[in-house]
Parts: sequence; structure tokens; C-alpha cells
Amino acid sequence: MDLIPQPGHVVPEGAGYFPLGPGTTLDARDGTHGTERWLRSVLGAATGLPLAPGTAPGDTVRLALDAGDGGPGPEGYHLDVTPDGVRLTGGDPAGLFWGAQTLRQLLGPDAFRRAPLPGSDRRLPLVSVRDAPRFRWRGLMLDVARHFTPKDGVLRHLDLMAAHKLNVLHLHLTDDQGWRVEIARYPRLTEVGSWRSRSRFGHRASPLWEDKPHGGFYTKDDLREIVAYAAERHITVVPEIDVPGHSQAAIAAYPELGNTDVVDTESLAVWDDWGISPHVLAPTEGVVRFYEGVFEEVLELFPSEFVHIGGDECLKDEWRRSPAAQARIRELGVGDEDGLQAWFVGHFADWLAARGRRLVGWDEILQGASGGRGLPPGAAVASWRGYAGGVAAARAGHDVVMCPEQYVYLDHRQAAGGDEPVPIGFVRTLEDVYRFEPVPAGLTAEQAGHVLGTQANVWTEVLEDAGRVDYQTYPRLAALAEVAWSALPAPGERDFAGFGARMAAHYRRLDALGVGYRPPAGPHPWQRRPGITGRPIEGSPPNR
Ligand code: ACM
Repeated sequence: MDLIPQPGHVVPEGAGYFPLGPGTTLDARDGTHGTERWLRSVLGAATGLPLAPGTAPGDTVRLALDAGDGGPGPEGYHLDVTPDGVRLTGGDPAGLFWGAQTLRQLLGPDAFRRAPLPGSDRRLPLVSVRDAPRFRWRGLMLDVARHFTPKDGVLRHLDLMAAHKLNVLHLHLTDDQGWRVEIARYPRLTEVGSWRSRSRFGHRASPLWEDKPHGGFYTKDDLREIVAYAAERHITVVPEIDVPGHSQAAIAAYPELGNTDVVDTESLAVWDDWGISPHVLAPTEGVVRFYEGVFEEVLELFPSEFVHIGGDECLKDEWRRSPAAQARIRELGVGDEDGLQAWFVGHFADWLAARGRRLVGWDEILQGASGGRGLPPGAAVASWRGYAGGVAAARAGHDVVMCPEQYVYLDHRQAAGGDEPVPIGFVRTLEDVYRFEPVPAGLTAEQAGHVLGTQANVWTEVLEDAGRVDYQTYPRLAALAEVAWSALPAPGERDFAGFGARMAAHYRRLDALGVGYRPPAGPHPWQRRPGITGRPIEGSPPNR
């Protein structure tokens, strides 16, 4: 049956099939109408069948919820395909939806098309599935700041995530190279900040430039649509507004946000190069008020429990040189520049908590916190510079999302050799991602319980269009999905051969979905980028 991610228990119930036909009905019980709608629209399109509401004897797919103790549990489902009908029961509406994803996979790859093919299968193998996820945070971070993904592309990624039972889309909305979210009270953030005049083509060592403007942003209605589309698929969209570093696009739009006593911020433009800009936010009350205004509008758009404030790679040189920043360190009594960063983070952690939300930030948000009052309770850490930040955070009682760059940065190359397009970072194969373990060794059970889950991060400096994003993201996101969903054994004991065998079927699903993944034998000729400089990092995968 070649299911991905692998369910907890799959028991074939004989050699027969349950055929879907023109008379097949959907019997949607209370609380199941979202999944009913999704099944009718997606499987209806793929099969050409009406899947009308009803209870046709022996020809019904019954959708129900069971939140009881003996039921499937949070996000879990039971799926029973018998000769007399199909029963899909969710522990909650999300679990029911994930069960519908399994049902679609059981129908075969043509169920992933948008119109029926003549003669294609419309039958389900007889089977009993009992399934629930290992982690509650199963994510994908998409960097829409470096290269913009227009709204339609985001909706497509949400569909692809749903097919993999992933449930968190982290949108990296702002960076030095672009600001991608409309903020009504600060129109210049998008008028000025959402585009740059040119882009470096390749890694920053590349001598090539793409001499055309690049940009785009999501209107508020675009984001409302994205959030609603995600919610129908039981996916939460977590917005990231990066402070106090990675802010050059905002400073270009509003020069008063920068360290004006040491930099002529009036002459700054949205950055056209890759790397980490030295131009960071000034640690003033005015800047904090400005960003409270930004976050007020962001909270209206995104109902997520967590709001990401970035916090990574804030270069401190401007603060060191700025008399105003130094005076601020003394005034706030925070000791040094790291303390200033912790003050920034702490302010927004409290501000978000007062509004019923929780801050999540990259692991630099731990910096300076120990010398001050500590990272406020409730704040969570996205551990990207390895496991260490996440280990420290979990030991201090904070929740953690594990996304170390050594394992799950999907912009990194997928194979050694000269064929990989714009090769950057470590070689991280499909197998490497499959053997990634989100819970580090050495934590107590209670500390390990703080690991909410994991996400893959797709940075887009060298991914200039949707095809490049597909190539880097797939098939490795399928492996990450199994790591996040399935109760796999320790990395060394994982059955990668078995996963690979199931991937043979999954590639057919990805083909039907139109995903431009990296083929197992290497890139198609049109997926190569000969002559574009990357920056490979040598080194074997640290987990093997
Ligand atoms: C990061 O990769 N700077 C979070």
C-alpha cells in the first residue's frame, strides 16, 4: 500500500477491494463536514464521481468523530475498508482529515490528479489502519523574503503539506532582502520594502547578477485566504517577522528604525546581496512601538498560538559603535549587546503573552537571557544551529522545535558532485533526512516532552523560482514528514530500504501532483545550473 508517512498499524484484510462508483455516498456525521467537503472536491475531481451525501447500503464512506478514551486520540484516525463500505473515524477533526489523506493514497496515484483518467483505478484495498502522529509540530518553513512565492504557490504548498500530514507552515515574511506582508499603518514597508532592483544569481561568491527587479507581497486578503485555506487543511500558519536583525528592508522603508547615529540609513536600499546585513534595528522605544504596531496587524491576520520573531544572526557591530545604543544598555541595565538583544526578545515575549500568544524564535533568543531575567516562560526555541540550543531550552523548561541546519535545511545540496544545481551547504541525502532524530539524547522524559516536533527549513537565496523550491524540497520533505509523524526506531535502525520501496509509489503521487522533485538518479538536464557558483560545505552527516 506504500503509505507515506508510515501509519502506526496497517493490517490488510484480504485480497479484495471496495470499489468507488457513481452510487458511492458520503455519510458525514457531526463535526466531519470539513473533511466531507475536501473529499468531495478533491476525490470528486480525480475520480469524476459525485460522492453524494447519503447512506447507500453497502456503498458508503462513513465519516465520524470519536473523542473517547478508546478512540484514535488527538490527530489520530481509524480507517476500515471492508467489502461493505468504508469507515473513517477521527479522534478529532484534524485526525479525520489525516485519515482522508491516507484514503487518497490508498486509491493510487491517479487520485492525486485533478481530472479522471480513462480506466484508472477507483478502488480501495481492504485494510484496517490505526494511526496517530508522534509529534504535534510537523512543519515546513518557507522563506518567501529572499525570493517571493506568490499566493498561488503558497496555496499549492499547503496542499502538498496536507498530502504529507504536515501541519505547520512557518512563513519567513521579512528579511534584509524583502518585506512581504502588507501593514496598513506603515505602507512604505511594502511600497519600498517589498522589492529590490536586482538580485545576485547564485551564492554570494557568484559574479552573476539577475538585473531585473524582484519582489512581491501578500495583501491582507491574500493572507486571510492563505490562513483559511490552511485551516481547512488543519495546518497552522506561523508568521515570522524578524527582529532585531535581518531588518534592512524595513530600515530602507523607514530609515528612523536604524542606528541613525552611526549609519546614514536614509541611503539604505533593500539589500540585493545574500548574507547577513550589518544594518539592524535601533534599540529604542520608538522602534519597539513601531513593531508593536506591525505585530498588532499580524495578530489580526494570523490566529496561531505561536508568533515567530526571528531573533537570529543580529550582528552587534552597530550597537557597539552607536553611542545611543550604548546609552540604552546603561539605561536598561542589561550589561552588553547580548543583553540588549534579550531585552528586545523579552519585550515581545511579554507583549505576545499579554495577548494570549506565545513567542517562538531562533535559538539566538537564548543569548544574553541567562545574564538577565531569562527567556520568559512560554517562549519556545527553534533550534537551528544544531541540537544545543534546543537542549538548553528544553532543560530550562521551554518548548522546542528541532530544525538543526546540519540535518533539515533543505536548501542544502542533496548529493555530492557537480550536477546539483547551485550546490550549497552540507550533502544531505534523502536517507540523511530519513535518519534525522528530532529528540536529542541526554534529555529526561520530561525535558524530551518539550520537543514539540520538527520542521524542515527552505531558505531561498539560491532558489529563485518555484521549480528550484520543488527540487530542493522534494523528495526530502516526504522523509521529514515520516520522521515527524511515524514512531520510527533509532536513526541507525530505521528501514531506509523499506522507505525507499514505498517512495517508488510516492514518486508517482508527486508526478500526478506536478511536483518538480529531484529524481533519485539526479537532476534532469533542465534542473541543472551549470556555471552558477554555490558554496558546498565538506563533511559527512554527523548522525552516522
Ligand atoms: C537561520 O538559519 N538563520 C535561522
